[in-house]
Amino acid sequence: MANSVYSVILLFLATSFLAGETSGIKAEGAFSGDPPAVFVFGDSLSDTGNVMEAFPFYADAENSPYGSTFFHAPSGRFSDGRLIIDFMASKWGFPFVEPYLNNIVPNYKHGINFAVSGATARNITDPIPFVLPLQTDQFVRFKRRVYASSNSKHKSGCLVSHLPTVEAFKDGIYVIFIGVNDILLSLFADNSTPSDVKEKTVPPVVSAISKAVQVNSSQLYETVVVHVMESFTALATGTKL
Ligand SMILES: *[C@@H]1O[C@H](CO)[C@@H](O)[C@H](O)[C@H]1NC(C)=O
Ligand SMILES: *[C@@H]1O[C@H](CO)[C@@H](O)[C@H](O)[C@H]1NC(C)=O
Repeated sequence: MANSVYSVILLFLATSFLAGETSGIKAEGAFSGDPPAVFVFGDSLSDTGNVMEAFPFYADAENSPYGSTFFHAPSGRFSDGRLIIDFMASKWGFPFVEPYLNNIVPNYKHGINFAVSGATARNITDPIPFVLPLQTDQFVRFKRRVYASSNSKHKSGCLVSHLPTVEAFKDGIYVIFIGVNDILLSLFADNSTPSDVKEKTVPPVVSAISKAVQVNSSQLYETVVVHVMESFTALATGTKL
């Protein structure tokens, strides 16, 4: 597998609490060429429209001024413009990664986005049910269906042109960018102190993310690239609040 050197990118917070470092990149091999697809899990920092489909007329992302600087209309993103994942897709020559819940002519050839605004890494259904373990279940379901259709004698050209190939699942990039809602909920809803958060919330968040990485892992990736976001570390420790 030529492209197996890039496989999983984890942008997540708080590894520093466990690893005792403030930033770091753990990688075996280097990035080379463009990946065939990107699979995204997370919250509003990566949601390209799932929240709007899941909860119509509810999320502020459907209203102005969201989307005003780039799309010139609300795009379902909690941003005036593009999200990090949009820049990644463009860099690799893909269209923007479409939401899993898109129901109008979705094209998942170059990946699919399971991120839903408000999602938590831990399986707590408040504020929204689209928690990370649900997103990875959705991924497993999606992948099984794609594999089944790729083996089907009746596969149509439309399926082939709108779905990732089996190789794209193996050689694609997996982005997991989640955890800030867990921390904010603890801080504000549960009225915890930063040190409570560090002690009680961060470890289960890290373990939920680790578990997500292991979902069907032998099929998912061969190398893990971990990128710790320092800004989230700062947020988690309360230094920016
Ligand atoms: C979340 O937890 C509930 C209650 O324990 C469980 O029934 C549900 O299956 C879990 N969801 C996922 C996606 O793992
Ligand atoms: C993992 O993926 C393979 C195909 O790559 C599939 O046959 C298997 O059922 C998957 N495992 C789970 C737990 O979904």
